[in-house]
Amino acid sequence: MSRSGVPLRIFVTGAGGQLGQTIVRELRRGGHEVAALTRAALDLTQREQVLERLVKLRPQAIVNTSAFGVEASEEDPKTALAVNAFAVRTLAEACRSADATLLHFSSDFVFDGTVTSPYRETDRPNPGSVYGATKLLGEWYAAGAPRHFVLRVESLFGNPEGKSTIDRMCADIRAGRTVSAFYDRTVSPVYMIDVAAATRRLLEGKAASGVYHCVNAGFTTWHELAVELTRQIGSPSSVVPVSADGLTSKVSRPKFAALSNEKLANLGIELPSWQNALGRALAAPPPTATPIPPSGIRPTNSRG
Ligand SMILES: NC(=O)c1ccc[n+]([C@@H]2O[C@H](COP(=O)([O-])OP(=O)(O)OC[C@H]3O[C@@H](n4cnc5c(N)ncnc54)[C@H](OP(=O)(O)O)[C@@H]3O)[C@@H](O)[C@H]2O)c1
Repeated sequence: MSRSGVPLRIFVTGAGGQLGQTIVRELRRGGHEVAALTRAALDLTQREQVLERLVKLRPQAIVNTSAFGVEASEEDPKTALAVNAFAVRTLAEACRSADATLLHFSSDFVFDGTVTSPYRETDRPNPGSVYGATKLLGEWYAAGAPRHFVLRVESLFGNPEGKSTIDRMCADIRAGRTVSAFYDRTVSPVYMIDVAAATRRLLEGKAASGVYHCVNAGFTTWHELAVELTRQIGSPSSVVPVSADGLTSKVSRPKFAALSNEKLANLGIELPSWQNALGRALAAPPPTATPIPPSGIRPTNSRG
């Protein structure tokens, strides 16, 4: 519900993705009227269609979870620009005409990862990849909406289909398989359920526009994380520490990508520690990827 207790009309774009699905469920659970738009339903690179659709539906908020991925962006920078940056410009334009809030997701990849303590929102971005650069542009375009939130997330887990790195690690450890994990890459992972809850609270509240780091508290190497998973699962799986330095990859990834979530916590939106989040994810009922009905919003000419 909004601050006044009235449900909001919310448009979720990229709704077929892992975070998009989780957010649609959380917003509907919170009583909001949500249109879940997959790429098939609305291609965000088609500016005219996006603007026309928004004029008809007049949402009070747009939550953009769409993205063109890390490796794909390196292969196809033109599409990366179109999806990660120019589509956000279109959404901000739509928000200006509908006087709607834009909540957009960005990434730790806007940083170069050369620090030793968690990044804050005031730290200067310096992306080292096409993905990171286009996500940074997207952040700047999002600021064109009258009220806007840019949530930087990283290493999402709790995917209903078990596709994320952490979810795959869980499956391996549960099956008793040996897991190799980097000891020289540091992250602040985040449980998708916690991102969805923070999203709902930001939309319902009156926080100031701006960039927010939306990750579980603390940080860890991938190796420490895998060891913690074996401890929580109670599995005899062994975890082999490996270096990421030897990897041949087309993409430059930040070495130290931890983010501080203090700014969100100062608003009263506290994301628990990553260990706590892993525990809740492990205890959650077996994931199901139930299809999400596309739209709960009918065209209107006035704000609902
Ligand atoms: N996953 C992570 O660990 C991670 C880390 C840092 C930041 N993020 C950010 O978090 C957000 C959510 O990530 P995610 O992991 O949920 O991504 P995801 O599962 O890959 O979902 C992204 C969605 O965007 C859709 N999309 C791509 N091009 C589009 C277009 N032209 N028009 C409309 N939709 C389009 C995709 O549709 P198709 O499937 O049909 O292509 C997909 O459903 C993104 O902004 C991402 O950059 C994620």
